[in-house]
Amino acid sequence: MENYPPKTIVTKNLTLRIPQKSDTEAIFQGYAQNPEVVRYLAWRPHESIEETRRFVKARIAEWKTGPRFSWSITRKDDQRFLGMLSIRWPVPFRISMSYVICRSEWSKGYGTEAARAVMDWALSLLEVFRVEACCDIENPGSARVLEKLGMTQEGILRRMGYTPNISDEPRDCFCYAITK
Ligand SMILES: CC(C)(COP(=O)(O)OP(=O)(O)OC[C@H]1O[C@@H](n2cnc3c(N)ncnc32)[C@H](O)[C@@H]1OP(=O)(O)O)[C@@H](O)C(=O)NCCC(=O)NCCS
Repeated sequence: MENYPPKTIVTKNLTLRIPQKSDTEAIFQGYAQNPEVVRYLAWRPHESIEETRRFVKARIAEWKTGPRFSWSITRKDDQRFLGMLSIRWPVPFRISMSYVICRSEWSKGYGTEAARAVMDWALSLLEVFRVEACCDIENPGSARVLEKLGMTQEGILRRMGYTPNISDEPRDCFCYAITK
């Protein structure tokens, strides 16, 4: 891959950086063990911090291999851990995004600010023509973030999402994207 994602992205209020082992406790407490937060994600709530430790290790290791790259979202002024944003970059022209914010930090604009920074970086690359994200059709918070980013809702991808906290069967997702 010619263009590697930046290891750090700084915005007005946030620093996005490569996850660290020391994020483990904040991830476990802030979202990984919380059924409300992981409801629309592709994994079940973590039952122990050991599970979160393995999760963090995998996110760090992926920076060497791709195609997934994750950043810890932290508050710039006090380095507080706020959440995580991941991209998948399987082919040069297209990047998909997903994100999660700790429950105590919802609706403060952090998810949108982090996603906007990554979207803007992606679109600034000559070879990237499309940034996309999918969300469960019953996840209005995530859909709202994507609307605020200026993405277009392109339709419903039927049976697209694996969300084991809701159903054993794949569920319909909204597909959002921005192109150039
Ligand atoms: C989706 C998520 C990342 C949003 O993060 P956030 O930091 O709260 O996002 P923001 O504050 O930037 O914006 C959230 C917007 O959604 C709105 N919103 C939140 N819950 C909502 C709901 N149930 N119905 C309608 N709107 C909702 C907020 O009001 C806000 O919009 P506004 O600025 O117009 O008021 C966060 O809710 C989360 O982590 N959810 C669980 C994980 C998840 O579902 N991730 C997405 C997987 S596709």
